[in-house]
This record gives sequence, structure tokens and C-alpha cells, in this order.
Amino acid sequence: MARSRVTVLLQGETGTGKEVMARAIHDLSGRSGPFVAVNCGAIPPGLVESELFGHRKGSFTSAEDNAGLVRSSDRGTLLLDEIGDLPLPAQAALLRVLQEDEVRPVGVSHPVKVDLRVIAATHRDLERLSREEKFRTDLLARLCGIALHLPALRDRREDLGLLVAAILRKHAGDRAANISLTAEAARALLLHPWPRNVRELEKCLAGAVVLAGAGRIDLEHLPPDVRSASEGRPAPQPPGEPALDEQERKLYDDLVAQLQAHHGNVTETAHAMGKARTQVQRWMRRYGLDPVSFR
Ligand SMILES: Nc1ncnc2c1ncn2[C@@H]1O[C@H](COP(=O)(O)OP(=O)(O)OP(=O)(O)O)[C@@H](O)[C@H]1O
Ligand SMILES: [Mg+2]
Repeated sequence: MARSRVTVLLQGETGTGKEVMARAIHDLSGRSGPFVAVNCGAIPPGLVESELFGHRKGSFTSAEDNAGLVRSSDRGTLLLDEIGDLPLPAQAALLRVLQEDEVRPVGVSHPVKVDLRVIAATHRDLERLSREEKFRTDLLARLCGIALHLPALRDRREDLGLLVAAILRKHAGDRAANISLTAEAARALLLHPWPRNVRELEKCLAGAVVLAGAGRIDLEHLPPDVRSASEGRPAPQPPGEPALDEQERKLYDDLVAQLQAHHGNVTETAHAMGKARTQVQRWMRRYGLDPVSFR
């Protein structure tokens, strides 16, 4: 899959490793051009087309010639991150680029050929956005050459060991082989629901490595919310088994997704879920979710 030019759509909650995956696909692709990542949500709406497709000098006041991100990634890989935030007019222009392998810079009448490999990523539900007519169905179909869903960390607890080892290697270098966790610390990692996924695990371990110094990583070296998950909970489930029952897990997943979509705003989250604010606050306390961590 990496070596083909097929368009890949990566979906998954924040921090599940979509960008890590996109870079890995590019590294394995053998493509000679660069890996270019663009956060579609961070470009001011009026500039999306010129940033992506480039523009010719003079097409705006004081604008210099600009190749645009699409042409900058010629023969390489273009990661369109947060594609769900792309405004509708830019979606139409992007669809043309994908269909025709050519780009029409702002202020230029003739199209320019590009050898493009696109990977798109988002934590938003594109199917839902397209039902709400905020995302073009034809663009969604075009992006889904291969659609990969990166699971939440709480749904792949069996990978915790590998992830912890990789993150310790990154943050402790040569010392990593000598670092170990106490049984209590390992249990807390296993029980915590990780609403911010691998990013949160990495932040937690980077801090623990510093705090533990030459000693073993213990409960006291973990952030309070990670510690609290292990307090008063039943023993860890075997790997692969959900820690919550089916119905509760659905509720938990929905709550986390809505908090992410509304950047930790509890009133908007409650509204989106059709529940009272006090009910949502009760659930957040139950699962140890802090709205501040979603901002
Ligand atoms: N498989 C992995 N091994 C080691 N570290 C990982 C892995 N996956 C993700 N990470 C780490 O987790 C952090 C978040 O990863 P990444 O930026 O790829 O997430 P994302 O899905 O793009 O998140 P967002 O939706 O918020 O942009 C990074 O710091 C990355 O180094
Ligand atoms: Mg990302």
C-alpha cells in the first residue's frame, strides 16, 4: 500500500498517531519528493486556495509567486491534516486536483501537472459531515482509496507494552533498557482510559522518566488523573478485553468524541448529546475526564 499512489484516509481520535502513520507510509513509499504536511484548519479561509494551489505574482496586492503546497509536494507525499476543516470551495478545487493530477494556481490560466500522493487525516466523522452537507460526498469517495481507522488507545490496551517501550527509548535514550515500572504504575497505565491517546501516554512517560531519575517509575511519578484511574477500580482486564461494559464504553466513546469536537465546552457537549449539563458533568467525574485537557 505504501508503494502505490493510492490515496489514504486516516481517521481516529486525537493523538492516535495519524501523523506518525502518514510519515511511515511516506518513508516506505520510495517516493523521491518531500513529505509535506498541511493543517487545513489552520489556514485562514480566504487563503486556502492560494496556500494549497499557489498563486502568481500580482494576483493579490504584494503577492509574490508562490508554488503552493500541492506543487511543493510534487513526487512526494502531501498530508492534508484536519481535512474535515477544509472550506467547501477549496474542497471543490481539491477534488479537481485529485481527479486530473493537475493544479491551477490562482492568477494562472493554464493548469500545471503534478505527481501527487495524498494522505488525508481527520479526527472528525467525515461521513457525518457529508450527511450534514459540510463535506463533499464526491471528495470523500475520492479520498477513500484506502480508509484506515486508528483505534483509540483504550481499545488497543494490548499494545501498551510496545508503545511504552518505544516511548521510553525516545525519551530516555540509552537509559531506556534499565528503566522499569513498578506493578502499581503498570496497573495504572493499563486502567487509565487515555482520552488523548498516545500523545497523552507519551507526555505521561516523558514526565515520569524525569521524575523517577535513576529509580523505577512508580505511581507517584504519574499525573494525578492517570493515578486516580487505578484507585478503587477492579483488577485489570485481560489484554484485549474492554475495561468497561459494552453500553458504558459506547457512552464513554461518545462523550470523549463530543468533548473533542467541542474543545472541552461542557454546555455544547451536553447540547450535542441531548443531555443536561449536570448529567454530562457527572459522567465526566465518573470517568476522570477533565474538560481543560480537551482545549
Ligand atoms: N505508534 C507510535 N509509537 C510511538 N509514538 C507514537 C505512536 N503513535 C503516536 N505516537 C506519538 O503520539 C503523539 C501523537 O501522534 P500524532 O501527532 O501522529 O497523532 P494524531 O492522530 O495526528 O493527533 P491529532 O488528531 O491531534 O493531530 C506524537 O507525539 C507521536 O510521537
Ligand atoms: Mg495530527
